[in-house]
Amino acid sequence: MTAKEGDAYDSPLFYLVMQYAHRADRDVVGMVSGSPDWDPPAAVRDGLREYADGEPADFQYAPSEGLRELREEIAARRNVDSDRVVVTNGAGEANYLAMARAMERDAGDEMVLTDPVYPYYPGKAQMLDAETVTVPVATDGSLNLDSMRAAVSEDTACVVVNTPNNPTGAVYDRESVAELAALAEANDALLLVDEVYDHFDFSGRFESALTLDSENVVVTSAYSKTMAITGFRVGYAVFPDALVEAAKTRHMLVNVATSRPAQAAVLRSLRETPPEYYEAARDRLRDRIDAFTDALDAAGASYTEPDGGFYVLARFDDFPGTLDNVKTLIDEAGVAGMPGEAFGEAYDDWIRFALCTPRADDAAARLADYFSASDD
Ligand SMILES: Cc1ncc(COP(=O)(O)O)c(C=O)c1O
Repeated sequence: MTAKEGDAYDSPLFYLVMQYAHRADRDVVGMVSGSPDWDPPAAVRDGLREYADGEPADFQYAPSEGLRELREEIAARRNVDSDRVVVTNGAGEANYLAMARAMERDAGDEMVLTDPVYPYYPGKAQMLDAETVTVPVATDGSLNLDSMRAAVSEDTACVVVNTPNNPTGAVYDRESVAELAALAEANDALLLVDEVYDHFDFSGRFESALTLDSENVVVTSAYSKTMAITGFRVGYAVFPDALVEAAKTRHMLVNVATSRPAQAAVLRSLRETPPEYYEAARDRLRDRIDAFTDALDAAGASYTEPDGGFYVLARFDDFPGTLDNVKTLIDEAGVAGMPGEAFGEAYDDWIRFALCTPRADDAAARLADYFSASDD
């Protein structure tokens, strides 16, 4: 368990690595970003087109907490009261609102995070002047509940977890998340569960933390990945009754409101998109995972087999996941991934590859060539 100090998370490495890959003097398969390369649902495009011909009033501020019909649609799907739903600028803002609310409750100033961690969590914790306590996950990527129990105390403002997980691909079982909710309740803390990859569960085990029905749990999600629209910035948070009004106020003071055409297109898509769209996205990712991991076998690498999400972590002998090594792979193998060290210490020997490219098998073949040549 370590406290992460300084500004290591101030400027996420994502952009730096992507720029480096973009400037490279060769063809590079980009596997850095979690931006889907597949089509959004047809209803998203139809919704945008329809919106363009709307009345002037449709081009003005949306209600700050989100379009009423969208909040009702989300609430019906998540089986919660629509008053608890705030539509946000992606899961990113939803997470920020929850973490800020946790700090404002004056019930502790520590954030308990997992290691590996999605780097924006410690970045936000730092911005909110929270102390961070990081807890390594178990070797299979599941939550280490004993260590979580040891880390959560009366000083804890918020426990932050993400399932299905970026970067490990773990899907946490309901009992583990319930145990975290109980810990949060016992210590007057919040549990934030980021479910932005909820539609990318390959295990069939994912269950939303909303089913726990706890006064201490905030659940966040977004359509960014679900509908392949990271550029739209439509997400949401579901707060407990006692916390939602203050979160709505902060959302309004920071943003005024979220983009109205984007919300309208998401609403139409929620109503019209058949389950086959989401199934096809999962199938596509499964095929990519298979092709990529087969080639990683050929490269002699160890790797994680994700139960959910978009990412595979790979470890190559004597080639730790540093930024320098990632740059070497860009220059010499033509494959760009994210350094494991960007996610903490537990996986700093690993490199994360996002499967958001149709060229995942090319990338894997390049890695196999590169590492077999460097063995000679
Ligand atoms: C775990 C996690 N949470 C949140 C986000 C950001 O989501 P959004 O684009 O909806 O803000 C990402 C994006 O990669 C993510 O991986």
